[in-house]
Amino acid sequence: MLMQSTYTYTSILHDAIKVDWQVADLIGGDKQLDFTKSFLPEALVGSDAIECLNAREKLLLNQIRGKSYLHLFVLVEEFIIPMVWAQLQRKGYRDADALHALLCFTEEEGKHIRLFQNFAAAFDRGFNTPCAGVEPREEIAKQVLTYHPLSVLLLTLQFEWTTQSHYLESVRDNHAENLDRCFSNLLKYHWLEEAQHTKLDALLLYELVPTMPDREIEIAIEDYLKLVTILNEILMAQVQLDLVSLQAAISRPLTTANLQEIQSHQSQAYRWAFLCTGLTHPNFVKILNDISPTLKTRVTALAQSLS
Ligand SMILES: [Fe+2]
Ligand SMILES: [Fe+2]
Repeated sequence: MLMQSTYTYTSILHDAIKVDWQVADLIGGDKQLDFTKSFLPEALVGSDAIECLNAREKLLLNQIRGKSYLHLFVLVEEFIIPMVWAQLQRKGYRDADALHALLCFTEEEGKHIRLFQNFAAAFDRGFNTPCAGVEPREEIAKQVLTYHPLSVLLLTLQFEWTTQSHYLESVRDNHAENLDRCFSNLLKYHWLEEAQHTKLDALLLYELVPTMPDREIEIAIEDYLKLVTILNEILMAQVQLDLVSLQAAISRPLTTANLQEIQSHQSQAYRWAFLCTGLTHPNFVKILNDISPTLKTRVTALAQSLS
């Protein structure tokens, strides 16, 4: 029996309206990236254990990972907006609070795309060598949207909880690392709005699942597991691009052994940061279990295989 969400569209809308920031509050003017500092916490980057890089090179890797973070989140936001829009059309427009809350959701994700792109432009102005992200972004988003709507909703929820973990567990109380203030604020202000998105995703999900026959739920579950696999492939492709960016940035060739060492650490770090943190988040696991205990078991096993 699927459990009910403890939130309502009205309560979420009430919280969403209280969060009020603009992209220009976080980047631009006197707010510029400080390239003497790390952009992401070590918990997400995983560069400490790489023996073939010196401290300066690890800082450059950290900043490259920052640029890739921006790119990957734009990629994700680009399929979230049409997914929410489709859910809004499914629901209809009679519930004014639901309509307003879901429109806020899409408007905020649009703002987040601008946020990440403005940070990426600031990065490109200050970093000496090019850093590529996985492409073609729009085609990837279109491909994701060909899977069952419930599977895309689950992938979205997984990412919303990932965002929560990134800020709360690695940045908010992180006094040991002297992180760039602009980048820390990006993670903080993204988290503030994603907190509402996790609740909206859950509400949509608890509405959608009871309307679906068991067979359709099974199809959606298989689709979701395929999407996690696709996400893993995207991340591993980004690791390869980061290696190219790193070699250009440090201006020295890396040996095959060096490249293998960095790739190994970075593959693990990417999987931890973008897959395992969401897949193992207790609130996400609870919803998986509510949909199907079998789904929970399969995702738990998948997360273990990726960590
Ligand atoms: Fe977002
Ligand atoms: Fe979101």
